[in-house]
Amino acid sequence: MPKPKSLYVCGSCGYESPHWVGQCPECKSWNTFSEEVIIPFNKSRGKTRLPTSKPVYLSKISAKSPERISSKIGEFDRVLGGGFVPGQVVLLGGSPGIGKSTLVTEIAKQMSTVDILYICGEESPDQIKLRADRMHYSAKNLLMLSETNVDAIVSAIEDSKGLGFAVIDSIQTLYSEDFAGTAGSISQIKGCTQILTNTAKRLGVPLVLIGHITKEGVVAGPKILEHVVDTVLYLEGDSQYLYRLLRTTKNRFGPVSEVGIFEMTEGGMTEVLSPSDLFLSQTQGVSSGSCLTVIMEGYRPILFEVQALTVRTAFGYPRRTTSGFSNNRLLVLIAILEKRAGLDLSAHDVYLSVAGGFKINEYAADLAVCLAIASSIKDKPIKSKTVAFGECGLSGEVRKVPHLEKRVKEAKKLGYKNIIDPGVAKNLKEALKLAF
Ligand code: TYD
Ligand code: MG
Repeated sequence: MPKPKSLYVCGSCGYESPHWVGQCPECKSWNTFSEEVIIPFNKSRGKTRLPTSKPVYLSKISAKSPERISSKIGEFDRVLGGGFVPGQVVLLGGSPGIGKSTLVTEIAKQMSTVDILYICGEESPDQIKLRADRMHYSAKNLLMLSETNVDAIVSAIEDSKGLGFAVIDSIQTLYSEDFAGTAGSISQIKGCTQILTNTAKRLGVPLVLIGHITKEGVVAGPKILEHVVDTVLYLEGDSQYLYRLLRTTKNRFGPVSEVGIFEMTEGGMTEVLSPSDLFLSQTQGVSSGSCLTVIMEGYRPILFEVQALTVRTAFGYPRRTTSGFSNNRLLVLIAILEKRAGLDLSAHDVYLSVAGGFKINEYAADLAVCLAIASSIKDKPIKSKTVAFGECGLSGEVRKVPHLEKRVKEAKKLGYKNIIDPGVAKNLKEALKLAF
């Protein structure tokens, strides 16, 4: 047998290098390389002739849309593209404590008519029992297995009949004697996932793999698995706030960039049916410095409130601070407001925040940011029932943004009448006229 050799693998993107490097040439992250022992492939396997497979013409294949198994949670079905597909492998990533185990337990609770196999390598069955009790879940359909050996898990999945789905909590705790390294190392995670994926496909059982994101935000594990699994979901949120977003970044059975919205309550994870309500404060339209905007989360428009506060700079250089919005973008928008709309902000500090702790990455929020700042500096509230969205160009023009109709429809549905969008305001000056 050839000697095992070692390789250095980037924990962030899986780049392989024969020697240690400080910065990954692929994903540019620092200090992510760790040594992995590569055991050469068992040569005797190649000697037995594999069953031959024949290629077929694609046109001869009759494609049926896959049958779906509903998770009984609308928001979860939405991100899956309509429910689980038999044999689908879903990777559920997220930072520790964000609520991954709670979400899966919630699905098990809702799918009360089928058995769910919960493989816990991380918590003891007692802890999971406590969680279920908190969630007022009798857990009659929840089969627990405390196991980390992947072969034992495969046998358990094979032996359980009529499973709704199986969940592995978490993939980082699994190990197999066939691969080098300790549980959680890249070769173990990759190898175990491959074995589990094959099992899921063979038996037609949907599989949910839970994976942690490390403290530094590096997705050790989840990132390198993305190409192996069918669907990648990330659960995000701020621990200070109760809402959680479940995003699809890859889906072989449905659309990507879909978003499911949940709320972490005392009794578990509940889906949020009208997300716009969640992010709006009650004071809107009363005080100055606040403007509503419509942001697309996936294919879904959601209303957000942008708040700005401008105060006279005490001395020296004016401060510009943001929360939930890009600081650099704020600087650009302030420059546009000064030059194109004639607002003098040179002696004012500007503080900007998105209510509800949400992070806005879309340029569509530009117009609302400008109007909120203008409202604060004038100390005049924006007209009630106003919503503004549109990208602000450097020459002060309001530019078109995608999904215009959807945004307008959502705003109208919620009773907003004064909708300032690129269709009605060609430039910032016109937008300012419509807003006050
Ligand atoms: P958990 O699902 O264990 O997170 P993860 O599996 O992603 O590490 O959830 C952790 C947090 O959720 C924990 O701090 C307690 C909180 N929580 C609730 O607020 N409500 C609940 O009903 C439950 C079960 C947990
Ligand atoms: Mg957990």
